Amino acid sequence: MSDAVMPAAKKMLDFAIDGVPMQAVDGQTVIQAARANGVEIPHFCWHPQLSVPGNCRICMVEIEQDSGDPWFDIACNMPVTAGMRVLTKSEKIKTLNQDTMQFITLNHPVDCGVCNKSGECLLQDYHYELNGAASKSRDPKTHATKFFPLSDRIMLDNERCIMCTLCVRFTNEVSGSKALGAVNRGDHALIRPAEDADFNLDVYSDNVIDLCPVGALLSTELMTHARVWYLQATKSVCPGCERGCSIDVWHRKHEWKLNALDPRLNTTIDRITPHENPEVNGLWVCNKARDLAQLFERPRAEQSLQRGAPVDLSAAIAAAAKLMAAAKKPVAIVSSWGSNEELAAFHAAFGTTVPGFVKADHLPLPGEVIEDHLLIKPDKNPNRKAALALYPALPERVSDALPADTDVVLVWGEGFDSALVPSGAKVIRLDSYAHAANSTADVFIPISVQTERNGHYTNFKGVVTPFEACFPVKPSIVHAEALFTALAAGTPV
Ligand code: SF4
Ligand code: SF4
Ligand code: FES
Repeated sequence: MSDAVMPAAKKMLDFAIDGVPMQAVDGQTVIQAARANGVEIPHFCWHPQLSVPGNCRICMVEIEQDSGDPWFDIACNMPVTAGMRVLTKSEKIKTLNQDTMQFITLNHPVDCGVCNKSGECLLQDYHYELNGAASKSRDPKTHATKFFPLSDRIMLDNERCIMCTLCVRFTNEVSGSKALGAVNRGDHALIRPAEDADFNLDVYSDNVIDLCPVGALLSTELMTHARVWYLQATKSVCPGCERGCSIDVWHRKHEWKLNALDPRLNTTIDRITPHENPEVNGLWVCNKARDLAQLFERPRAEQSLQRGAPVDLSAAIAAAAKLMAAAKKPVAIVSSWGSNEELAAFHAAFGTTVPGFVKADHLPLPGEVIEDHLLIKPDKNPNRKAALALYPALPERVSDALPADTDVVLVWGEGFDSALVPSGAKVIRLDSYAHAANSTADVFIPISVQTERNGHYTNFKGVVTPFEACFPVKPSIVHAEALFTALAAGTPV
């Protein structure tokens, strides 16, 4: 590469935090440079991807230079200069932090014991770490509405709000809905929906719940059925579109397993949060990911069937293997929700003997956003790119893929109409959910869903992202990856 096209090297500045020498990129603020060097400075209103209002003052640091008096400034808006010495733990900063926390909690109810954010709350952490003292105010706390619905999905507890404005800035700067604003001033200030906007229409709205540093913004869904300390996260991928956003799937911890009440709650998805992935989704996800429980927890298919009659899983696999072995003109309809590993197993089992065509398992739902400025992509299948690397797409005229002399059709996954199968052809269906077509197939075999298996998806840009199992698979259900090998070999899984 010639010098002419080399990107200009960024100027590095030497500075120090609490006596430890560090380097900052020219233009970085103290809070950014501190983070880059592994030092966390307390913050409420600052966020790495939003504008800097500098209104909470908890990030105050003391700054010394070679000449002149030391001074205090907010780390989130203070650029690093060469030779700067930053103190985050000096006695003066400790006093300032304590006073700031006294001020911020002046009207906050500190009702951590009943707050859903408790356990994930920055205010709670800083209150213990930086203040820890009872309120010095003799005046009663100002009361405000406890439960104000900002939308059908999000509840605002005004008393807990510390007016950091992260939620307002998110709707202005990221989602673009401009659906939230602040009204009134001082301790009467409130977050409110903007007059000419509807927060329900913001398809990224739930990100403000994660952004809110206190328990002021809560998911109406989560607040009624789970607390964060009962839950653990498993790394996963949203299958809602070809973006394949990285997510955490939250579910009940083993030690909090329910033995009474409804034990099915041990294997439900309690919430979804974004998992930071700069290559795919950055820090955000759309609300479709938040609603994945509705997608994954549809009525399942758990029983193998032969022409609608229940049979053992092993009998169903043997019957399907026999059909495949005897087929003269078989065709496979390949899932675009299968993982890379399942697709590879399918290709290894049938690649040279069975022609395959990739279908869309899911199409956009009525009213669903097809594509937008931020993350949402038009193809509502997470792994069509990987499937298309192995097999062609199912043609629009399906009969071009399924000629009249087709004798066995192997249908993997959802989204394929059995009426398109040539008359006389046998049908093997592999699916996870209860569909009428399952009982009309010659053989139906129930397969696991994403939350029950490990794997990878390849998104529209070719980025490969892993997902992990959160729940055990029932004995009557088989993993497709093992099934394909068994079907081709005619052996049990
Ligand atoms: S609701 Fe939460 S995010 Fe919004 S201003 Fe209040 S504290 Fe900040
Ligand atoms: S953009 Fe697509 S992959 Fe990302 S969260 Fe939304 S539906 Fe899921
Ligand atoms: S984080 Fe710096 S003023 Fe709020």
